[in-house]
Amino acid sequence: SEADKGAYPYYMLKEIDEQPGVMRSLIKHYVAEDGSIKIAPELLTKLNNADRLYIVAAGTSYHAGLVGREIFEGLTKIPTEVHVASEFAYNPPLLSQKPFFIFLTQSGETADSRQVLSLVNQWGYQSLTITNVENSTLSREATHTLLLYAGPEIAVASTKAYTGQIALEALLAKAMGAQKGLTTAANFEVAQELTKVANGMQELVDEKAQIEKIATAALATTRNAFYIGRAIDYDIAQEAALKLKEVSYVQTEGFASGELKHGTIALIEKDTPVVAIITDAKTAKHTRSNAQEVLARGANVIYIVSRALAEEGDQIVLPDVHPLLTPLLAIVPCQLLAYYTSLQRGYDVDKPRNLAKSVTVE
Ligand code: G6P
Repeated sequence: SEADKGAYPYYMLKEIDEQPGVMRSLIKHYVAEDGSIKIAPELLTKLNNADRLYIVAAGTSYHAGLVGREIFEGLTKIPTEVHVASEFAYNPPLLSQKPFFIFLTQSGETADSRQVLSLVNQWGYQSLTITNVENSTLSREATHTLLLYAGPEIAVASTKAYTGQIALEALLAKAMGAQKGLTTAANFEVAQELTKVANGMQELVDEKAQIEKIATAALATTRNAFYIGRAIDYDIAQEAALKLKEVSYVQTEGFASGELKHGTIALIEKDTPVVAIITDAKTAKHTRSNAQEVLARGANVIYIVSRALAEEGDQIVLPDVHPLLTPLLAIVPCQLLAYYTSLQRGYDVDKPRNLAKSVTVE
């Protein structure tokens, strides 16, 4: 069955490898022959009538929301906020006049997100749940649902749901922007771009041996680690750090690289691993100079860089894709770094201590 590990030693590795297929399946489900997006026009109209989008989620899904902000603002020009569900529940922000709520949740069952959705329903606002589980609670209780069609995700550490959510955000934002007649959206050939992503992901998952070597050399015995980036690369850094800490128990943080000098750089010692993520052209030069600063304090810097921005010596080079979709590629080697570090430390990567796949209590 789909939920079978097959020849794989762990679900996490299987699910990492499935990501190119998840991209193709989303294209198949959401893009018509003529290139139009198969999402109900009345949902697009409601979203486009909003003066602000509120994305609410937890964990990895929250990180997919951070990338979603870049995508929705870029393609629809609607201001977008992203909130951690457990924070929103007791301390909601002051809302705009015409809010629309988007819930991102792999399982559709996360209690913190459900709590916010019931508030939203009490307030009488419209909502959309983006989820991998048909008929899940958050799907039933929201006004609209869009499914990820990613197949069951079994490993506790989420991988293909993150990339699936980002790809579906891109499909949705494209459809919204096209409905509004925005040029940026019209010029964004989403099926073509996601196909490029699928091919790029395949190249990356085919290079596992190289990532395993980096994990052995830099992460197998370290006490802590940092991921740094700016703009969309900061969003990626936060998810990359969560992956590593969840399955390897290495104390890991994702930082806005410009913020390091305001405190965190004090933690850099000889050989502290710092993974610099560079896919954003506007900030590439600045992240590189921040990486130089930690290098000068003895850090072991590992560069993950898009081909167009790569320099001699960068360890992991990513195929070039649309600037809003680089997280879909950059996260793949980070997932693999986490996976191999966990194995080298002798842990059960599919079932990390203290964590549950779906947290259905507050
Ligand atoms: C748990 C899982 C995470 C997941 C989070 C949100 O903490 O361990 O991997 O990201 O819940 O889950 P959801 O199903 O709402 O995306």
